[in-house]
Amino acid sequence: MSSQTTSFPVITKTVPTFYFIGVTTAKSSIMKVFPLWMQVLGRPEIVLEGMDLKIHDTAEAYRAAVLQIKNDPFSIGGLVTTHKIDLLTAARDLFDYLDPCAQRCNEISSISKLEGRLEGHAKDPITAGLSLDAIIGADYFARTGGEVLCFGAGGSAIATLLHLINKPSVGDRPPRFVLVNRSAARLENARAMVENLTTDIQIEYVQNADPLRNDALLASMPAHSIIINATGMGKDTPGSPITADGLFPLHAIAWEFNYRGELDFMHQALAQRQSRAVRVEDGWLYFVHGWTQVVAQVLHLDLTPEIFARLESAAASVRAPAS
Ligand SMILES: NC(=O)c1ccc[n+]([C@@H]2O[C@H](COP(=O)([O-])OP(=O)(O)OC[C@H]3O[C@@H](n4cnc5c(N)ncnc54)[C@H](OP(=O)(O)O)[C@@H]3O)[C@@H](O)[C@H]2O)c1
Repeated sequence: MSSQTTSFPVITKTVPTFYFIGVTTAKSSIMKVFPLWMQVLGRPEIVLEGMDLKIHDTAEAYRAAVLQIKNDPFSIGGLVTTHKIDLLTAARDLFDYLDPCAQRCNEISSISKLEGRLEGHAKDPITAGLSLDAIIGADYFARTGGEVLCFGAGGSAIATLLHLINKPSVGDRPPRFVLVNRSAARLENARAMVENLTTDIQIEYVQNADPLRNDALLASMPAHSIIINATGMGKDTPGSPITADGLFPLHAIAWEFNYRGELDFMHQALAQRQSRAVRVEDGWLYFVHGWTQVVAQVLHLDLTPEIFARLESAAASVRAPAS
């Protein structure tokens, strides 16, 4: 197993350090939330450190991030956002254990250590799922006839699809899930995952980055459909996958995966709250579920509903008002 890199030396930490591997980590609410959570959990000595990597960064940069955690005793683990697929692709051989979801989805959001082993977990199928379930409730698709249109086919989008495929009750599965992505590679990754599963969901793969074509896809969705922005546009990159003229289906749920940034897609949806009866959700709950799951994994704690409630309440106390 290779564990060498020359350009990025491992930094020896003197306090327990939890990493946040993202794009613009300093701007995340977790910087304020994390110290509060460590107080709640009785671990105030643990500090959070951001590692900003470029979108689709070099394999060397991803391997260096993983090696820092693997080889430094005080680096206890971390949460990965945006880079979930790219990081695992570049550094898969550095892990001693990958959970079944990570193996199936080819992505990880959690890096932790147990008894000397470096472990990777894909928490998104759990956290995207917990958030989606809280938004739509039971039997949504049977009740409404809605479908799903998801812009972006990265780690979080794939996790959402997997969560829906795994729903045991037919009323909790959409009849159709349209997955739109700029590059073909991400769609192929999704297709490869789905081919190993059995599902009655009709999954359509659309390679596209033209907002006008996305508008046409939006217009083709039935009422009550769930329209997801999982592209990172409006936070990681400017803009929105649709134009200002894109019409949401009546009674649609517009789910923006982010909760900070320009959030253009969310504002486009908000403008249709009255005219199209669009319900708009942002990524705050997803953020809280995502982080609590990874903190629990890295710290090896049992995330009971009581502990989750205390952490959720601490996070809410420092949530910035929506812009
Ligand atoms: N609230 C939360 O806690 C939370 C949790 C999870 C994710 N998120 C956010 O959700 C976003 C996605 O996360 P992720 O981990 O899935 O990231 P990711 O793996 O980078 O996926 C983003 C995908 O969107 C595609 N894309 C970008 N622009 C596009 C466009 N105009 N049209 C179609 N596809 C486009 C990219 O395609 P290419 O392959 O061509 O680059 C990429 O496959 C990030 O901004 C992340 O911060 C938030």
